[in-house]
Amino acid sequence: MSGLRHLAMVTAPQAPTAPPNWVASRHPLGWLIDRLLQVGPLRALLFLQARRLIIRTAESRGIAWRARRQTLVAQAQPLLAAVQRADLEPPAYYRVRFHAYDEGNLCWAAAGEAEQATDAMALRVWPGEALSAEAAQRRLRQAIFAVVEPSLDGPLRRVLDVGCSVGVGTLALRDWLDQRGDHGAVVEGLDLSAPMLAVARVRDRDGRIAAWHHAAAETTGLAAASVDLITLQFVCHELPQRATLAVLAEMARLLRPGGTLALVDQDPQSAVIRRLPAPIATLLKSTEPYLEQYFSLDLPAALTQAGFECLRVAPCDPRHRVVVAQKAP
Ligand SMILES: C[S@@+](CC[C@H](N)C(=O)[O-])C[C@H]1O[C@@H](n2cnc3c(N)ncnc32)[C@H](O)[C@@H]1O
Repeated sequence: MSGLRHLAMVTAPQAPTAPPNWVASRHPLGWLIDRLLQVGPLRALLFLQARRLIIRTAESRGIAWRARRQTLVAQAQPLLAAVQRADLEPPAYYRVRFHAYDEGNLCWAAAGEAEQATDAMALRVWPGEALSAEAAQRRLRQAIFAVVEPSLDGPLRRVLDVGCSVGVGTLALRDWLDQRGDHGAVVEGLDLSAPMLAVARVRDRDGRIAAWHHAAAETTGLAAASVDLITLQFVCHELPQRATLAVLAEMARLLRPGGTLALVDQDPQSAVIRRLPAPIATLLKSTEPYLEQYFSLDLPAALTQAGFECLRVAPCDPRHRVVVAQKAP
């Protein structure tokens, strides 16, 4: 038995964690906010106020939210035709309201604000610390890759970041591989949103990412057994369960035998997440349509079902966990 398998047995998950109470909660305050959110004009007003607060808070922490959106969108729009596959029809579950954007991940507003939102998210992970957004982002990604490291088995030639959005995690992955001395490994990003990919291309000024693929994670069209490491960073909570299962099957197809899959997302065991106040939890659920399905899926069991083994689950920060698995040889 390899040392890796032994490690896997020591840290293998035991039983699925029950979802946080608020996931299915009918808390009176949450219920009331939920009812208000059903009314279009009230929802628009509430989202507008929440949005103003988010932007004000981010800008007070050094994230140039509005100025950056303007720059990114202006530079990315001319690139759209080059990244977009015109024949790609996103599935129905994807064409819904996400993060309070009516057109979800497919609009320029979402693409132009994803980098800022990702930085604001990183700052929220360590609320008591006077970190810059850049330092928080670096710390968040380093903690993720530190969990992945012990599962790597063999050389990394091709690495794929699925659900790459505007490439914040993809470029962090490139930095990490360079730090490891894996200069020969190529890194590629894949996403269903063409505007996000156009912004990713703008952010990847020096062309450090080998390809930005416009494709669905469940039907990538990439060659079987051609990838050594796949990351899905903060993607699964945006997927209905049936889509997650289809994505895992596709990841198993793409990975070479012994290749590594790493999924990072909200940690159902996180005390911070479990203790979210009812109004915040209700607002969160209203902007994340599949959160309930994410928390009720037994991801380790789904990975085993999809043909993965050597599972490890570890928290990477106070809010998130990484699930790492290997494609069976
Ligand atoms: C929260 S963002 C991911 C952020 C990014 N990975 C990071 O670490 O900063 C989720 C991304 O997943 C993408 N996505 C959702 N469903 C997808 C699917 N079925 N196929 C490909 N991309 C998908 C969305 O377009 C969005 O860009």
